[in-house]
Amino acid sequence: ALERTFSIIKPDATRRNITGKVLSIIEASGLRVVAQKRIQMTKEQAQGFYAVHKERPFFGELVDFMISGPVVVQVLEGEDAIAKYREVMGATNPANAAPGTIRKELAESIEANTVHGSDASETAKEEIKYFFQDHEIVG
Ligand code: CMP
Repeated sequence: ALERTFSIIKPDATRRNITGKVLSIIEASGLRVVAQKRIQMTKEQAQGFYAVHKERPFFGELVDFMISGPVVVQVLEGEDAIAKYREVMGATNPANAAPGTIRKELAESIEANTVHGSDASETAKEEIKYFFQDHEIVG
């Protein structure tokens, strides 16, 4: 089915000036960008976004990394967009990611792993709402 998923191009990518390379892999996969903005997340915003991970040992570092520079938040649309984008991103740890995936080709580490993508339909809806108003999404 036609779906929307939420994506973040993380600070390691804005720092290295490679957001275009990331976008080019996304678009080559057939996914379409229907909303996009560059933002500096606040600490509160990052903590809220990653609240499901708040008991994890890496939570503090993850939040600090996500506010270490600007990010590009996006809504991507396409057939089975959620699963499709997870394929295009590759495994969370770039060391385990398949060739051609964003993380294999571009990521620096499990933390600085270049992109985030929603893991399921419910979280996609929540994550999109966390950063975008309806009128900002133009399909
Ligand atoms: P993301 O898809 O944004 O969701 C949670 C993030 O936590 C994940 O990508 C990784 O960047 C990060 N993460 C997961 N596991 C670890 C880990 N062991 N150490 C540091 N960061 C991690």
